[in-house]
Amino acid sequence: MNLQLLTSKLIHTFRTEGVPATCRRVIAHLGRKRPEEDFDRRHRTDTGGLEPLWKLSIRSPNAVFGERYQATGEEELLAALEFLGEDFRNFTFIDLGCGKGRTLMVAAKKGFRRVIGVEFAEELVEIATRNLARHQAPNVIVSHADAADFVFPEGNMVLYLYNPFSEEVLRKVISNLRATALNKLYLIYKTPRCADLLDASGFLKRFGQPPAAPQMAIWMGRAES
Ligand SMILES: C[S@@+](CC[C@H](N)C(=O)[O-])C[C@H]1O[C@@H](n2cnc3c(N)ncnc32)[C@H](O)[C@@H]1O
Repeated sequence: MNLQLLTSKLIHTFRTEGVPATCRRVIAHLGRKRPEEDFDRRHRTDTGGLEPLWKLSIRSPNAVFGERYQATGEEELLAALEFLGEDFRNFTFIDLGCGKGRTLMVAAKKGFRRVIGVEFAEELVEIATRNLARHQAPNVIVSHADAADFVFPEGNMVLYLYNPFSEEVLRKVISNLRATALNKLYLIYKTPRCADLLDASGFLKRFGQPPAAPQMAIWMGRAES
């Protein structure tokens, strides 16, 4: 248990969101119930639950800017991918802050050329690796790294973010994206707390919001456009 990180996270949330929002978050955390984990029953995996970062082993100065682990629902991710209307055989799917890897398993079934998860919490990387081994998906990898340091591959990409970090890290990610020789880029952002940064990036344009996944907003872009 990392009490220093817990304290830093509380102070950061106080500063950025104010006292009432911080209290609401603490109360929600204390009163939480485990959601139905249908995905795990069907796939015999372990992707459920809520994992606060202060309980995990993270060696990164960006831990204080990170959000706890909670998985995206299979149906909403499938709805967002469907909404893009693309043939994914020439696309790489990347989830920055992939946690236990549920999105990677969902994306692997959609025929992406490559699927990459990036996660900085050691325990979550281990669980994701075990989950993926059960799925036997050869084109999927999990990288134990900080999203801020991730060097994006060239070509077509679907980048997925489920509100993994605050603007301090997102700014670095946007700058890394801008420096990449991308062809087509879709950025799917669930619970898009820092949407204004993407709107202000200059190379990303709003693409839409899937009616079947209303918590997700999608941008489209090319690094050099
Ligand atoms: C809300 S969860 C999303 C999990 C997964 N993307 C999904 O949708 O099922 C956010 C995840 O981002 C990870 N994370 C936060 N900041 C990170 C960073 N700077 N680098 C890598 N992972 C990070 C957390 O450890 C957590 O697992």
